[in-house]
Amino acid sequence: MRYLTLALAKGRLAKKTLALLEQIGITCEEMKDPDTRKLIFTNEEYKIKFFLSKASDVPTYVEYGAADIGVVGKDTILEEGRSIYEVMDLGFGKCRMCVCGPEKAKETLKKNEIIRVASKYPNIAKDYFQNKKNQTVEIIKLNGSVELGPIVDLADVIVDIVETGSTLRENGLEVLEEICPLSARVVVNRVSLKMEHDRIRSILTGLNKLISEDK
Ligand code: PRP
Repeated sequence: MRYLTLALAKGRLAKKTLALLEQIGITCEEMKDPDTRKLIFTNEEYKIKFFLSKASDVPTYVEYGAADIGVVGKDTILEEGRSIYEVMDLGFGKCRMCVCGPEKAKETLKKNEIIRVASKYPNIAKDYFQNKKNQTVEIIKLNGSVELGPIVDLADVIVDIVETGSTLRENGLEVLEEICPLSARVVVNRVSLKMEHDRIRSILTGLNKLISEDK
């Protein structure tokens, strides 16, 4: 039997994802060693390999078939725009993609002028302003701490993830418009979905059962 390979997004979602997999019997003791520098782990019983990668690389591994299945946030799926199947909402890691800024930016947004938008998600920001709002904007790509953008006058507004809202509050910013809800999703390679249908289905059924019990 060939190995089924799972790519999991490092960071916030990884712990929860690993806990879910463990509950459906897909465990890997090796992976729990906090000092390990190993990148890929194997469960011989189920013939499953899994690895943690940078979130934005998960859709890439899945599109090319280097991973059959991926677990990653909807934000990354939207931003990367890869040709993959999104098959399940895991219901955790819930947050929102929003346009945020200082209160005064509300007026600026209404005027339909060319504004500067800073974001870690340039594609999502561009799609929202150009296609949904028909507004021409200048997008400035940042790689983190995006809330600095309006504070240091780099940008009028930001497009970013809001979870508790405390980063915004502590920096004098607020949600101005909501773009879409986000959460952790399971994605599958297009060919794997056909070729490994039964094995993938049994994993998805197991996960689905756990999620429904949780509700
Ligand atoms: C994310 C996001 C916000 C913050 C939102 O950043 O970009 O900054 O979390 O969470 P909150 O609404 O609960 O405050 P992350 O912590 O991933 O760091 P980064 O900005 O450096 O990428």
